[in-house]
Amino acid sequence: MERSAGAAGVPEHSDIGAQKNRVVTKEEWLQKWEMRNIGFHKQQGHPLADMGHSVVGVEVSEQALKEFFAEHSLPYCEEPVPEISGAKKLQSTSGNISLYCCSIYDLSSSIVGKFDGFWDRGALVAVNPCDRQRYASLMITLMEENSSYLLVTVSYDPNKHEGPPFYVPESEIKSLFGSHCEIKYLEKVDDFSERHRQWGLDYFLEVLYLLKLVSD
Ligand SMILES: C[S@@+](CC[C@H](N)C(=O)[O-])C[C@H]1O[C@@H](n2cnc3c(N)ncnc32)[C@H](O)[C@@H]1O
Repeated sequence: MERSAGAAGVPEHSDIGAQKNRVVTKEEWLQKWEMRNIGFHKQQGHPLADMGHSVVGVEVSEQALKEFFAEHSLPYCEEPVPEISGAKKLQSTSGNISLYCCSIYDLSSSIVGKFDGFWDRGALVAVNPCDRQRYASLMITLMEENSSYLLVTVSYDPNKHEGPPFYVPESEIKSLFGSHCEIKYLEKVDDFSERHRQWGLDYFLEVLYLLKLVSD
């Protein structure tokens, strides 16, 4: 069966079509930022640091990081990351926002520590499908005991659009994180817009989950 009902009526496609083998390279991401092909970008940031948290992020595009600080009128300083060749850390002068400019796969808990909260928007859905297991395993190593991991995935018919964002079925969330985390489906949000219609889609949902590390 190609399509069935998953969490709270979110359609589940067992065949992810051509997405399975699709690879978006670092160079393609850098080019998207250069060409402003960034329909995923929200003008308003998510107010995590404003709520008193210390926020750590990672992004391959230095341009994206510099634009973030400029858009929020935040002064920052830069320093190399000795453990990662060519990487930089851009840190707000106030000290509570640290953004690493490197591939996420270069990070480890020995470099960035562990975290008690995660906000995964535009991240797992941007990871090449062949790298999902590597990404999920890394995230699990960065989770502090009792941490909360808020994950946003997207749901649409993967035979109609090649991604990114990539379609991540609920069954895959379970196979990626289920042996280490309790997974709670929170809600689905209709995010369908003209952009998605132009991709040839007739529905586009954001699906939110809360993951909690289960102690062994
Ligand atoms: C869909 S965008 C989402 C960006 C941001 N999280 C947001 O919600 O607006 C995915 C981002 O991941 C970055 N990216 C792609 N591969 C990466 C990697 N291996 N390590 C770090 N960042 C990466 C891209 O440059 C791009 O800005």
